[in-house]
Amino acid sequence: MVIKSQPWSPDSWQRKTAQQQPNYPDRIKLDAAIAQLASLPPLVTSFEIELLRQQLAEAARGERFLLQGGDCSENFSDCESDAISSKLKILLQMSLVIVQGGKKRVIRIGRFAGQYAKPRSSDMETRNGVTLPSYRGDMINGMEFTPESRIPDPELLLRGYEHAGLTLNFIRALIDGGFADLHHPELWRLGFVHNSPLMNEYTRMVDSIGESLRFMETLTGGSLGDSSRVDFFTSHEGLHLLYEQAHTRRVPRRTGWYNLTTHLPWIGNRTRALDGAHIEYFRGIENPIGVKIDAATPPGEVCELCSVLNPDNIPGKLTFIMRFGAKHIAAALPPIADAVIKSGAKVLWCSDPMHGNTETTASGIKTRRFDNVLNELEHAFSILSDAGTHLGGVHFELTGDDVTECIGGASGITEADLSRDYRTQVDPRLNYEQSLEMALLLSRLMARK
Ligand code: PEP
Ligand code: CO
Repeated sequence: MVIKSQPWSPDSWQRKTAQQQPNYPDRIKLDAAIAQLASLPPLVTSFEIELLRQQLAEAARGERFLLQGGDCSENFSDCESDAISSKLKILLQMSLVIVQGGKKRVIRIGRFAGQYAKPRSSDMETRNGVTLPSYRGDMINGMEFTPESRIPDPELLLRGYEHAGLTLNFIRALIDGGFADLHHPELWRLGFVHNSPLMNEYTRMVDSIGESLRFMETLTGGSLGDSSRVDFFTSHEGLHLLYEQAHTRRVPRRTGWYNLTTHLPWIGNRTRALDGAHIEYFRGIENPIGVKIDAATPPGEVCELCSVLNPDNIPGKLTFIMRFGAKHIAAALPPIADAVIKSGAKVLWCSDPMHGNTETTASGIKTRRFDNVLNELEHAFSILSDAGTHLGGVHFELTGDDVTECIGGASGITEADLSRDYRTQVDPRLNYEQSLEMALLLSRLMARK
């Protein structure tokens, strides 16, 4: 067991067992790539990281709500203007709906600008008698089933850093240029959405926010300036520990070590072993962090995660991203919530209603049902409220595109529709309309209290 008094350094995780790491055949090339990464400038700053931690502390107190979303896995080929702006648009629209319906300020965190490494159930994949390393994300190897493409290539770590930087640069420029200004929600319309029934409800909300803004500005005699602009933060699964370590730095006038590749790294469900390398790495960084937990996580282990990862009980530091599944949440969450509340640990409860609700159709397509996702969310709200606390955030796999990967929702996507525009290579995502509908239903759940 790791304890606070044990010394920590950005590489102390290397003395533990690190799961889900690629096997690089060329160690010299790997060392050179890591050394170069370590010399490149950071992608985010400690000021932004501290701001996010404060906002997450407010969410843990019930004063804000976290909306985290994006692709299961980003691809380098999606690093282009339309794909990035569509993702921003849907997250902005969803957050506007949550602000309006839920009456809470929203923290927006994208699963983007670095979500390039994926855990896999097996190290190797066999097709037609040929066995090759599994695809582990664009930052590690190629998707194409050839030896050249599947052998992990350290150069891809540099390409990952660059693509994260390009993505973030565009997002920052859009936001600075007024894209996220609440006065101009028309900029967030997506071209292919014409007569969706959801649009009427959404348009009413936009109009009412516009009216409130104009009212406030009349009252204060000027523009609301910064208060009408919104922030975006980034997050990714902190899976590839050499990559994370290379960006773990000290900054002037602050103590401790910051992971400057993203604002909020999270620990995946497969890599949260208490004695494992990921926990060792994460316990030493200053960033707010997320940890996935599932229905098999014993309540005592959840409490140990709190004491190892946040020994000083700093508000906003620790977010549990719960992915139980609609079938399991009613049995799994109450004892976990009770144990954490009893321990006095300060945490933010965030529901990931996607990863426990993945299923495979008879024809072998990986999908999720809108109703199961919603059902898990409803349970998360009511169970936590019965336990005397509250759900403070949600975590979705979604896209601003018009894909057909999840079943259900008002637009009525059926199992037979899935093959029409199924694009993901990893997990199925809510499409644009399903995401907006989910936000509308979520804001009703929030308003119910
Ligand atoms: C993910 O978020 O894409 C993921 C792999 O989730 P989990 O760690 O919960 O399985
Ligand atoms: Co996923």
